[in-house]
Amino acid sequence: MAIKHYLQFSDLTAAEYAWLFERAYIIKKKFKGYEKYHPLADRTLAMIFEKASTRTRVSFEAGMYQLGGSVVHLTTGDSQLGRAEPIEDSAKVISRMVDLVMIRTYGQDKIERFAEHSRVPVINGLTNEFHPCQILADIFTFLEHRGINAQGKPDPAYLKGKTVAWVGDGNNMANTWLQASEILGFKVHLSTPGGYEVDQSIAGIRSADSYKVFKDPMEACAGADLVTTDVWTSMGYEAENEARKKAFADWCVDSEMMRAAKPDALFMHCLPAHRGEEVQAEVIDGPQSVVWDEAENRMHAQKALMEYLLLGKV
Ligand code: CP
Ligand code: NVA
Repeated sequence: MAIKHYLQFSDLTAAEYAWLFERAYIIKKKFKGYEKYHPLADRTLAMIFEKASTRTRVSFEAGMYQLGGSVVHLTTGDSQLGRAEPIEDSAKVISRMVDLVMIRTYGQDKIERFAEHSRVPVINGLTNEFHPCQILADIFTFLEHRGINAQGKPDPAYLKGKTVAWVGDGNNMANTWLQASEILGFKVHLSTPGGYEVDQSIAGIRSADSYKVFKDPMEACAGADLVTTDVWTSMGYEAENEARKKAFADWCVDSEMMRAAKPDALFMHCLPAHRGEEVQAEVIDGPQSVVWDEAENRMHAQKALMEYLLLGKV
């Protein structure tokens, strides 16, 4: 089987996503029922973190053990990666010893260079440009809540014609939502402060057909099926913190914005969150918020992804 990497959301097709959502649903059921499932016995995942993480670390590590495999955890500080060993050399060495690599780093070019020299599949665990594993889990979560069909399966057909309102930074999450909208056929209503817009060429999407830009975040939320946001300052941009706090002051998801959305709209946030900045406490801790399911689903969705990248359609 040719090596399949997961470096951005557009690396997989709509049909492959349908498969992954179904597998994530089945794998989650097994987990909830304490059913042993070890398809990745004797396989090893290397996790390379150049930025901090809670969810990505725990979900990949616990997920890999639950599938019968094991993990190696590397950071810039405790490996030669922090001492300027070329990324190409690191990729050649690490990929001779493990079956799968997950990387969280800065520029997307770095993970692409790693993948080019890797003998095994590489997964993007977040870059400055993209966070595909998060959107995989987010869409799975949306389907779990709103898109289970008569056969009891998460059905991506439910995404057609739906609207996701993005309120905040034109960052890695926003870019990835845009890629997902092109592939899965929903619309994104984007509202970002001036100077923090999404750049279509960085987002890597073919056209502007699947999204619409709004100056006013209230308008972006009007009639939305899902309202979502993220931190004002992503990792790696800390020097801009003060300027961003000023620029983003009106981009806080509050109950008024949730009222403008559909009555059954869900709220999501990839976490970690800053209550009182990008979201009001009463929204993230309120009845429309599914952020804890969303976080848990990182693990189930990524187990399906690891199974698929290593074993194909089992
Ligand atoms: N959402 C997310 O990726 O969280 P971590 O930064 O904790 O991994
Ligand atoms: N956009 C955020 C997501 C954190 C999970 C960041 O890149 O820091």
